Amino acid sequence: MEGAEVGDDVYAEDPTVNRLQDALAERAGFEAGLLMPSGTMSNQVAIAVHTRRGEEVIIPEGAHVYEYELGSMAVISGALPRAVPAPLGVPEVADIRAAVHRSVHQAPTGLIVLENTHNKAGGTVVPLERCREVGQLAREEGLPLHLDGARGFNAVASLGTTLAEFCAPFDSVSLCLSKGLAAPVGTVLLGSREFIREAHRYRKMLGGGMRQAGVVAAAGLVAVETMTERLGEDHARARTLAEGLARLPGVEVNLAAVQTNMVYLDVTDAGGFAQRMEAAGVRVGALGPRTVRLVTHYEVTDDDVRRTLETAERNLAAVSA
Ligand SMILES: Cc1ncc(COP(=O)(O)O)c(C=O)c1O
Repeated sequence: MEGAEVGDDVYAEDPTVNRLQDALAERAGFEAGLLMPSGTMSNQVAIAVHTRRGEEVIIPEGAHVYEYELGSMAVISGALPRAVPAPLGVPEVADIRAAVHRSVHQAPTGLIVLENTHNKAGGTVVPLERCREVGQLAREEGLPLHLDGARGFNAVASLGTTLAEFCAPFDSVSLCLSKGLAAPVGTVLLGSREFIREAHRYRKMLGGGMRQAGVVAAAGLVAVETMTERLGEDHARARTLAEGLARLPGVEVNLAAVQTNMVYLDVTDAGGFAQRMEAAGVRVGALGPRTVRLVTHYEVTDDDVRRTLETAERNLAAVSA
């Protein structure tokens, strides 16, 4: 980062940013890429480019673009979410087909979105075949298909496929560098040259035009070049963690949902559990009154997993004593 060659990215003149965008676009099989400050801006710019005001966006239930992006598809794009059921994050093609609206009495459908891996469902993986089927449906219906691939590389690792195969069904894909890939900041939005030209305009409108962004892109290049091949280690540790936690009294874990680097558990008091864990040096996220999320990444070792399990066991024993 310190030695990054920089320029003004608002004018697309930052060589390090351009190198990152081009490298990811080539690897993913797209014409162009655009560095974004966050996954949220990347998704919302994609929605803005793909839709017109008053259109619906079909999403899998629990999708980040709706649940955790503050209604911004309504604020920025004038778009409405239409959620379809998605057990373990995987929607049925028939449900998406049934949600496509054309009638004069309804908001017309403008876009279909998938999320892979699906965060709220547990970091679950949408199989390639389902992505292709939804891609086929989108083409038949003349609708664009966007992928929120904030953890796309985790899905690629789990599916044992290539990034290009993974991205093939989609018109646009958003890939975060700042999550399991461990860069401090940054997301790259991918699509056709024309799509990215429009995305560039929206990025600037939203205040996401960054000047010497090569400093950030340099870390993004390290993320892409050195972090993707090791994600399987995070997945294995999450599995060990999940199986160990599932054996403890007072904890419920849906092991079927533990497919990548996340473990969601149910406990009686999520906030209290998280506080006690943090006091003992293990940071977990309380996401609801009963729901806790643990995420593994490159700094979490086998020893940390063992320590987490011991700490959880001690805390739970203290609560029930
Ligand atoms: C699936 C998914 N999409 C998008 C985002 C948004 O990313 P950011 O926090 O960089 O805005 C997240 C963040 O956790 C996410 O989990």
